Amino acid sequence: KKRFNIALLPGDGIGPEVIAVAKTVLQKAGSLEGLEFDFQEMPVGGAALDLVGVPMPEETFTAAKQSDAILLGAIGGYKWDKNEKHLRPEMALFYLRRDLKVFANLRPATVLPELVDASTLKKEVAEGVDMMIVRELTGGIYFGEPRGIKINENGEEVGISTEIYAAHEIDRIARVAFETARKRRGKLCSVDKANVLDASILWRKRVTALASEYPDVELSHMYVDNAAMQLIRDPKQFDTIVTNNIFGDILSDEASMITGSIGMLPSASLSESGPGLFEPIHGSAPDIAGQDKANPLATILSAAMLLKYGLGEEKAAKRIEDAVADALSKGFRTGDIYSPGNKLVGCKEMGEEVLKSVDSKVPAT
Ligand code: NAD
Ligand code: IPM
Ligand code: MN
Repeated sequence: KKRFNIALLPGDGIGPEVIAVAKTVLQKAGSLEGLEFDFQEMPVGGAALDLVGVPMPEETFTAAKQSDAILLGAIGGYKWDKNEKHLRPEMALFYLRRDLKVFANLRPATVLPELVDASTLKKEVAEGVDMMIVRELTGGIYFGEPRGIKINENGEEVGISTEIYAAHEIDRIARVAFETARKRRGKLCSVDKANVLDASILWRKRVTALASEYPDVELSHMYVDNAAMQLIRDPKQFDTIVTNNIFGDILSDEASMITGSIGMLPSASLSESGPGLFEPIHGSAPDIAGQDKANPLATILSAAMLLKYGLGEEKAAKRIEDAVADALSKGFRTGDIYSPGNKLVGCKEMGEEVLKSVDSKVPAT
């Protein structure tokens, strides 16, 4: 039997609801492949602020750092929205990402055949969409210096954020993207704003220079405003997208809607060494928190990414992906992906159905 230490960081809002469900699914899929997990559940975000006064307690970071992989729910909520910046729950995400050095954020957007009707796009546009957004996660405008609210020479307040990328930061995320595209359909689209932003001009130059090392990958470039439009016009043109921190944040929320709901999109955040961080791309959804309405599939699929990318346990990961497809094919739907003719269920019941499917489905090898 193989044993793994998993840090569970439920966080706020719907975070604890979706993590509770994903944990049981992860446990079951793992056990069928001879894996055992020691879970260490730790407070993060608003939950940690309430408990110990900081969004990212030292103990939580240590547990995360020493784990084999981290599964995180979501962070944030109205209660802490007026906090000073360093005491906002979201800061926990920045500390985690930065200190774990998880620069490569993989956000797959796949339209499952069962969910074509849940997309807001026409069936023929949404059907068959299968893309991977590779988002740079530890640089750019989220972290660039100078930053902050300062007083300018006229004595006026100015808010400053700096979009900055060093060559090595571009190269390492580009390599991840080229490797990702190589294992997929061999197409890579680099999204930037090189007609305006200096950081993007360097971005395009470095990505272009690396292309010669990946002759099997077809590289293209697109401005981000056009990319936002093309995602809706013809999303099937995309295979792998590589982009900076903020464009990746925005485009992945947009891409999620093609698949039916933001409640469907998982993510993996990977470093060069050390544990990966796995989380749904959605937030704490305070508008539906505590009502058993959240779609747990994004977190369940994040657990599958944890198995695949974090632990190298592809068979167990496949069990989860198959079980999600199975529960959907039986017509179970949370409100965000509901369409008439299906069965409306809550977060817990959706979890139970996926769990049943993990148990009963023998995965194709
Ligand atoms: P959000 O993603 O939390 O919610 C946007 C909308 O999508 C809401 O209507 C919500 O009900 C819905 N939604 C989200 N996840 C869902 C799910 N699993 N099932 C069904 N519906 C779902 O974004 P927001 O409202 O802009 O942000 C709310 C809070 O979450 C803020 O504090 C924000 O900073 C934080 N946030 C955290 C993360 C994270 O932890 N990684 C990501 C995004 C936002
Ligand atoms: C995400 C979120 C975060 C981000 C916020 C909550 C800081 O939107 O994980 O996509 O912008 O990275
Ligand atoms: Mn986001």
